[in-house]
Amino acid sequence: MRVVSIVGARPQFVKLAPVAKAFADAGIDHQIIHTGQHYDVNMSDSFFQELGIPDPDLHLGVGGGSHGVMTGRMLEQLDPVLEEMAPDWVLVYGDTNSTIAGTLSAVKMHLRVAHLEAGLRSFNRRMPEEHNRVLTDHAADLCLAPTRVAMEHLADEGLAARSVLVGDVMTDVCLQVRDSVLANPRPVPGVEAGEDYVMATIHRADNTDDQSRLEHILDALGSLDRKVILPVHPRLRVRAEADGITIARGNLTTIDPLAYPDMVNAVVHASGVVTDSGGLQKEAFLLGTICTTVRTETEWVETVDNGWNVLDPDAGRLAELATRPAPAGDPGHPYGDGHAAREVARVLAEHA
Ligand code: UD1
Repeated sequence: MRVVSIVGARPQFVKLAPVAKAFADAGIDHQIIHTGQHYDVNMSDSFFQELGIPDPDLHLGVGGGSHGVMTGRMLEQLDPVLEEMAPDWVLVYGDTNSTIAGTLSAVKMHLRVAHLEAGLRSFNRRMPEEHNRVLTDHAADLCLAPTRVAMEHLADEGLAARSVLVGDVMTDVCLQVRDSVLANPRPVPGVEAGEDYVMATIHRADNTDDQSRLEHILDALGSLDRKVILPVHPRLRVRAEADGITIARGNLTTIDPLAYPDMVNAVVHASGVVTDSGGLQKEAFLLGTICTTVRTETEWVETVDNGWNVLDPDAGRLAELATRPAPAGDPGHPYGDGHAAREVARVLAEHA
């Protein structure tokens, strides 16, 4: 069986890591196409190196531009490549422009598509990711869902017959990397040994692209009662430069984007996380660190169920929320047991 994985953005490299390993263990002929959506060394190459992912078989070099331009360029390049590779499955990940481009190219050539992380919904149609994930689920031949809630969304949309619950591959990689960084202590950039701090990330278009909203969020972070470390995502860097905004202020310190193990290490030891990232909300949950999410909703609803994650859409309550005490009680294991990638390999082979 031949599977072609199409990835392009940072969170997809994280998901690819356990999948590539499980495919190698299962003897699957696996090829990797990198669209080039994320191209900075510390947004892309460092993830392949640090997570031991095989080098992509093909790099399309398509990054930047509007959503339509980026997606269109990817489509143009993917058609001949997928035709030549002729895989049994095209595997697409998550909800980015690389996901929808890979899906569209494949289905129009009658290649079968499996969507990993299917069934997530924010129900916020302002988010480009919401369109990407809904359209991908409906075009895919197999929807590989991470959670029961995702399975329910797929069933609600008439997709139950082609949906399978496999668990969450991010759990696989997050728990493995946690064990390795705890066994090999490393410093957190910008933090003195023993110093208390909050980890923050802000990169969603809704938060970065409106100047006064961005200023308000940065002010709120800078006013927290302890150091706040913010690795600056390229979208934030580009927008802040264009608007003449200096990101660092008050207690808010900026650093470059972190490699995955450094981020896991920083979150494990932080007193809280403030973010608008989907993946980081869940990583904080898995790592036992409280999270405050600067969005109106979350796809990862299990994280908010018992107070580990709290939504603060306008960053108006950060002073009170960002360092609140952790909730009591067992948060359970809604994201699986850390063996989802093995299940992905098994399910693809079963349906080949
Ligand atoms: C994309 C995904 C988002 C995901 C995020 C993770 C879509 C629609 N969104 O958003 O779901 O959470 O990745 O990081 O696909 N840039 C660089 N260097 C890079 C990457 C990007 O300079 O390595 C610049 C781009 O040129 C662009 C901006 O950053 O100006 C945004 O990048 P883009 O890939 O469009 O979307 P993200 O905001 O990263």
